[in-house]
Amino acid sequence: MPDTLFPAPLTLTSGLRARDAWPLDPDVIHLNHGSFGAVPSAVVAHQDALRRRADLSPVEWFPRIAERVREAREHTAPFVGARADDAVFVPNASAAATVVYNSLRLEHGDEILVTDQGYGAITMGAQRLARRFGASVRAVELPLLVSDDEVVERFADALTPRTRLIVVDQITSPTARLLPTRRIADLAAERGVRTLVDGAHAPGLIADAAAVAGGDWWFGNLHKWPCAPRGSALLVTNAADRDELWPLIDSWAANETYPDRFDTQGTIDATTYLATPAAIDFIETEFGWAAARIAMAQIADAGAELIAEGFRPYSDVDPLTPLPSPVPSMRLVRLPLGLGATREEADRLRMDLLDETGVETAFTSFRGIGYFRLSAHLYTEQSDVEAFVERCIPTILRRAGIPSADAVVVS
Ligand SMILES: Cc1ncc(COP(=O)(O)O)c(C=O)c1O
Repeated sequence: MPDTLFPAPLTLTSGLRARDAWPLDPDVIHLNHGSFGAVPSAVVAHQDALRRRADLSPVEWFPRIAERVREAREHTAPFVGARADDAVFVPNASAAATVVYNSLRLEHGDEILVTDQGYGAITMGAQRLARRFGASVRAVELPLLVSDDEVVERFADALTPRTRLIVVDQITSPTARLLPTRRIADLAAERGVRTLVDGAHAPGLIADAAAVAGGDWWFGNLHKWPCAPRGSALLVTNAADRDELWPLIDSWAANETYPDRFDTQGTIDATTYLATPAAIDFIETEFGWAAARIAMAQIADAGAELIAEGFRPYSDVDPLTPLPSPVPSMRLVRLPLGLGATREEADRLRMDLLDETGVETAFTSFRGIGYFRLSAHLYTEQSDVEAFVERCIPTILRRAGIPSADAVVVS
């Protein structure tokens, strides 16, 4: 094992090991929090109790659902630095983008700028919006190690008189880095261009994520780093035309204005939203969010170093890929040549490795190079990363056709 100090397993205030606070399968190694999150047992129990109340007395529960969603929104919005009156719950980041795209009217020949590090599904939504109006989508190219200043310059160069909208990630998915969204959005605003900030990964990883992001609209997932039940995200805006935003489901609050009209969505299970404050409070009470971010960064740094060490004998470039603006919890480790060269291959590798080794991973692909995207949360321990080194690296090396694969052992 290299010299990097791996933090000792974290504990709750009760002394319980952090990993025991999550109901994750102990027979599986979990190194991919970022894709789908993980919900602590206490939050699962809280959501179950809410569902039980709904089942015990549906007529008590459902007619009062808007009030309950509003209370949850009042509790959750400050966590991302937003006012409750500017925030609405939506099921996920994709839904938030759809709501914003649905509100926009473009003209033939208009242009939307995205980046080549953007999240595919959100970019596809921008393409569909463009097709509806005979507009087009252009990707600003952002090399892996591009500095924040150069990112802003590239946007400045890419803006044209036909640009109407920028869609940009606060934290990129394939490369797990921060982008200077506020600077981009301010530049865009000077030229009359609006900005949608995709902060899917930002809540929990960036303090006051919505407040610092800038832009006309921001959205972020609560079911990723804040550990809320899946199907919980916020869309935040104080744009003058926000009454053009409509929830995905037309319901009884359709005559209300933003944000109230989003609190009623027909008869749905809103417990994902209602249990979100419990998830935010759980991490705050047990670890403190500021301390949690520091701890995640220490775990991610030590884990990435340990994994990179395992690949180093087989790589002609350093597999550890330090990014210009890293986030607390995710790191990139470059795969041996040829592996994960496309998104499809990277996704296949993720599922094959899970089936073959029992390790949950995320692989990303950027510009023809595959990376292991380590995603550590407070429950990630040294033994998890060692399991990756012992079980996954030999399998990965074999796939890359590197023969001495079985030699990888953690010492
Ligand atoms: C940058 C980014 N945007 C959007 C999404 C979509 O999130 P969801 O599947 O919750 O809609 C993700 C998911 O990982 C993401 O990383």
